[in-house]
Amino acid sequence: MTSALPNIAHTVSVGLGLRSYDILIGNGLLAHVPDLIQPLLKRQKVVIVTDHGVAAHHLPVLKDACEKAGLETHTVDMPSGEGSKSFSMLEALLDNLIALDVDRSDLILALGGGVVGDITGFAASILRRGCRFVQIPTTLLAQVDSSVGGKTAVNAKAGKNLIGAFHQPSMVIADIETLDTLPPRQLRAGYAEVVKYGLIDDPAFFNWLAENGQALLEGDQALRAEAVRHSCAAKARIVEEDETETGRRALLNLGHTFGHAFEAATGYSDKLFHGEAVALGMGLAHDYCAENGLCPASDAATVRHHLQAVGLPATVSDLNNLSGLETDAQFLMEAIAQDKKVSGGKLTFILTKGLGKAYIAKDVDPAPVQAFLTRHLAAAT
Ligand code: GLY
Repeated sequence: MTSALPNIAHTVSVGLGLRSYDILIGNGLLAHVPDLIQPLLKRQKVVIVTDHGVAAHHLPVLKDACEKAGLETHTVDMPSGEGSKSFSMLEALLDNLIALDVDRSDLILALGGGVVGDITGFAASILRRGCRFVQIPTTLLAQVDSSVGGKTAVNAKAGKNLIGAFHQPSMVIADIETLDTLPPRQLRAGYAEVVKYGLIDDPAFFNWLAENGQALLEGDQALRAEAVRHSCAAKARIVEEDETETGRRALLNLGHTFGHAFEAATGYSDKLFHGEAVALGMGLAHDYCAENGLCPASDAATVRHHLQAVGLPATVSDLNNLSGLETDAQFLMEAIAQDKKVSGGKLTFILTKGLGKAYIAKDVDPAPVQAFLTRHLAAAT
């Protein structure tokens, strides 16, 4: 049962001048979306964009609520999965939105995980030179990362997220209850992005997660809401400082350089979810730093142990257990180079001086990184 009033546990504001917005976090918010978005509506019309998997669980509640509130409500859906984040799906989505006569006074609601949020945000950014949209993230990864901060994109043949725009949502509504329908593996994958905020610059949050992470993953709603709040506040601070990633925002890529390379090695498939790749990448980044005398070995071990304790991969051996991966260091280095993280023969990497002391290193020599990967791949076989 939902209460008569929306049960907003936390509100986090993202301060970006005219593009500022609130992130509303709470339980059972889906049924209250019409009340929450009412101040944004210029005419009483919304289009919900979602995917088939999310639609099965969450569309009826949102759609009924919108219809009962007297909103003209339309739905556009797409197949679930990364394959939908394509140029052809973007075209189909735009054609649908145009056929529904969506214009700049309407509101597009992106109901789903990162794929739905990213493609819908990008469609909104270019439809009639920019329409407004609201993110309603239904995965932990989307609630703590991809729905916040305005990065929108589709994938190109040459790589992930290569076509996109910065386009901030008008509101983010994170209904913690939607996490109840996530498969545990997907929830854990999203949790990696939560851990990331602790590892960037917030050791106290990492310690809180070390204590509460397991209970949160097992279903404690208050802990989930608090973890989402803390993560969104951390991301909001970074985005407010560096909206278009000319500097500090790159810290949010901690774990992503190694992670993307392993995602490429698994063909961006379900063998390795993005969040799992990030967990592995964070484990490896800490190990790399420890092995090169940049970070205490005990901190790298602490990170590894927490990730592994909650069932996330933190070493290449964990990955072998997970997906039967076969690759080599040369392939991974090429994937890193493809990721546009090489300039003048040097890599840009997010490295760390210890727990919660991540920094942007722009001049990393690829040779020791390749040697590190060769060693770790050999040790895992
Ligand atoms: N997901 C990284 C960022 O939003 O910058």
